[in-house]
Parts: sequence; structure tokens; C-alpha cells
Amino acid sequence: MKRNIRHLFSIILFLMVIVGLLSFRLSLKYGSIQLKNETPFVEIAKFRVINETLLKYASIDVGEAKLKKEIEELLEGNFGNSGRQRSFLSSGRYRIDVRAKSARGLPVRPRSPEFYKLWLSFRRLLQDWFRNRRFDQPDVMLDLKSLVKDLMDKNGGETKGLGRKYKSCAVVGNSGILLKSENGKLIDSHEVVIRLNNARTGNFERSVGKKTSISFVNSNVLHFCARRDGCFCHPYGANVPIVMYICQPAHFFDYLVCNTSHKAPLIVTDARFDVLCARVVKYYSLKQFVEITGKDVEEWGPVHDGANFHYSSGMQAVMLAVGVCDNVSIFGFGKSAGTKHHYHTNQKTELSLHDYEAEYDFYRDLVARPKVIPFISDKFKFPPVTIYQ
Ligand SMILES: *[C@@H]1O[C@H](CO)[C@@H](O)[C@H](O)[C@H]1NC(C)=O
Ligand SMILES: *[C@@H]1O[C@H](CO)[C@@H](O)[C@H](O)[C@H]1NC(C)=O
Ligand SMILES: *[C@@H]1O[C@H](CO)[C@@H](O)[C@H](O)[C@H]1NC(C)=O
Repeated sequence: MKRNIRHLFSIILFLMVIVGLLSFRLSLKYGSIQLKNETPFVEIAKFRVINETLLKYASIDVGEAKLKKEIEELLEGNFGNSGRQRSFLSSGRYRIDVRAKSARGLPVRPRSPEFYKLWLSFRRLLQDWFRNRRFDQPDVMLDLKSLVKDLMDKNGGETKGLGRKYKSCAVVGNSGILLKSENGKLIDSHEVVIRLNNARTGNFERSVGKKTSISFVNSNVLHFCARRDGCFCHPYGANVPIVMYICQPAHFFDYLVCNTSHKAPLIVTDARFDVLCARVVKYYSLKQFVEITGKDVEEWGPVHDGANFHYSSGMQAVMLAVGVCDNVSIFGFGKSAGTKHHYHTNQKTELSLHDYEAEYDFYRDLVARPKVIPFISDKFKFPPVTIYQ
């Protein structure tokens, strides 16, 4: 009897080792994209659709070395005289643009105790952020509700929504196509309306609506706000939470200065979420590049300024909505002949560091076949997405 049981155990053990080895081989094979998952066959079926060469290229962040150097310099306090930091730090060590105001409205003086405190917080934030900049599996989409929504519910005092996602969200892009229709009321009928980069709504309300629940900005926007009294950065009202992604690490300074004065939550996107968005957009950009030009994938970098290539604010706002809402409507994305680039400005040209065509391709997949979107785990349930044009 005992012998039989021991025999049975060794068979089970043997089977476990085999299964373990198999899944190990699988995860080696699909190294950068393997997700812990009980249904490997679904995963494999999915990979047949997704081109692995493009996946591999999309996973390489060519700007990483540059960013690392920039962060090291910032951490050393070595701002130098060069380039990008100049607008908020004037020449020499520890010098800050005197237009950057502290919460109490006083200019932040270099070498004051107040500055020193800010400096220490800045270093800590920057280090934590950089350490967190990686691709995580299962992906961060599963955590967006707790990372962003719950934080807003708690701090914004609006606890009624705790425990569930938003029922419906409208993401309002800034494309001139918005002015072609009068969707203002439809936009405002969503539980949550997300607007981008502080585009104003006044004069355009029939087309763009007037309700704003979340203001999504890139850190350049906050950087300009930081020069104003009390860091004024809320054209939609002081109680609207701001979600911001960091496009230059030096902007953590603006974040710290502004965070104390902003009543509603001011949330920096999780660095893992940034990495995920970057990979998804790069995948679509690579895919279009090889399909349209017929060129080798290696040639994508020089054409798209690989090191500076970046997703647009709109793309990340849509991803955020996909993570925290049960139903997503997209307005004001895309273009058509005779419309302006932005509904609220006269900007003529698109920024070359974005690939809008690739992003539109991504939105179309979000609507029609979200399962083929790479880097997002099968555990994540996509909400229905509708594009209004
Ligand atoms: C994947 O993309 C690469 C680069 O464009 C291409 O050479 C290859 O044929 C594609 N593979 C499949 C299976 O479509
Ligand atoms: C999503 O919400 C909007 C606004 O409430 C509504 O018009 C639309 O029918 C909803 N879509 C789905 C698929 O539930
Ligand atoms: C930003 O402000 C909020 C609310 O006052 C606070 O809880 C949070 O700790 C602040 N963040 C940093 C990094 O100081």
C-alpha cells in the first residue's frame, strides 16, 4: 500500500516536472511577452496574429540610454547650461527659474531650506519613478483602477463610485473634426468626461461639451502652469483631478511645486503604464512602416526619430479610459480635409514625434478586435469602445 502511494507520488512529481519544463520552454520562446496564464493555447493563437519580429523591436526602447543619462545628471544636480532644463533651471547648479512659485506664492530661492526640502523630494520621486519604468506582467492595465480611479475617488471625496469602474467615459481629443458636429450634449451625458492638455471649451460647447471630470495633460502643460501664481493649472475648475504623464524627468520639480497647491488630486501616471503605452504605439508604428514603405524594420528608427518617438497624450488618455471605464466613447480624434489640427488653436502642423496614423490604427483595433493588441494580457477585459467622427 505504502509502496503504491509512493509510486503514485513519484508519477505525479514526474508529471509536474514535465509540465514545469514545458511551460518554462514556452516562456523562453515567448520571453518578452509571455503572460502568466492558465490558458496557454489562447496565448499561442494570439501570437500567430501578432508579428513577433515587430514585437521584439517594439520592446526595445532606443531612448532609454539618453533618459538614464539625463536622470543621472539631474540626480547629481548637474543641470549645466545645456538645453532642455534651461527653461526652469537657469544656469549653474541648483538654480531655478524664479518664476516657479512655491505653494505660498513665494519664489523658490535656490539654497533656501525650502528649496533643499523640495530637492530631496525631487530626487526621491525621480529615483522611484525610474526604478518603476519597466514592462510588467501581467500588465498594468489590470491595476489602473486602483492606481488612478480609487486615488481620485478617495482624495476627491467622491466615494460613491468606489469598488466599480466608471459606467461610461468620453475621451475628448482636440482635433478640429470636433467642430463638424454638435456632440456637446452627447459628450456631457457620459459619467466621466476626460479632456486633454487644458484645451478650452468656452465658445465651443455645442461641439465639445462643457463637463470635465478628469484633465489629462502631459508634463509640459504643468511646466507652464508652474510659472503662474499658485501654479494655476485648472481651466476646468479647481476640483477637477489632473492626471499627467512625465515627458521630461525634470518636470517632477514642477509636479512637486504644484502638488501642494492643487486642491484636487494631481496624479502622475505609473511609469509601467507609460512603458506599456510606448510599446503599443511603437508596435503599430513599426507595423504601418513595414507595410506601407516595404522597408526593413531597422529603418524605422531614423525615419521616426526613434529616441524621441512618443505616444500622444490622446493615446494614453484613451488607454486610461479603457482601464477605468466600462464603456468608452472617443470624440475628436482623427482628421479630415478642411479641418484644423486642433479645434481651439491655429496650430498648422502635427508634431513629428508622434505617429498619429499608427495611433488611429490602434484605436480601430480597440473598437473592432482588441484581442490582437499586443502587450496586453488576456486577463484584461476590454470595454466596448466607440469612435465618433
Ligand atoms: C513580421 O514582420 C517582419 C518585418 O516586417 C517581416 O519580415 C515578417 O515576414 C513578418 N512575419 C510574419 C509572419 O508576417
Ligand atoms: C456607452 O455610453 C454612452 C453614453 O452613456 C451610450 O450612448 C452608449 O450607448 C454606450 N455604449 C455601450 C456599448 O454601452
Ligand atoms: C501630493 O499631494 C497629495 C495631497 O496633498 C499628497 O497626499 C501626496 O503625498 C503628495 N505627493 C508628493 C509626492 O508629495
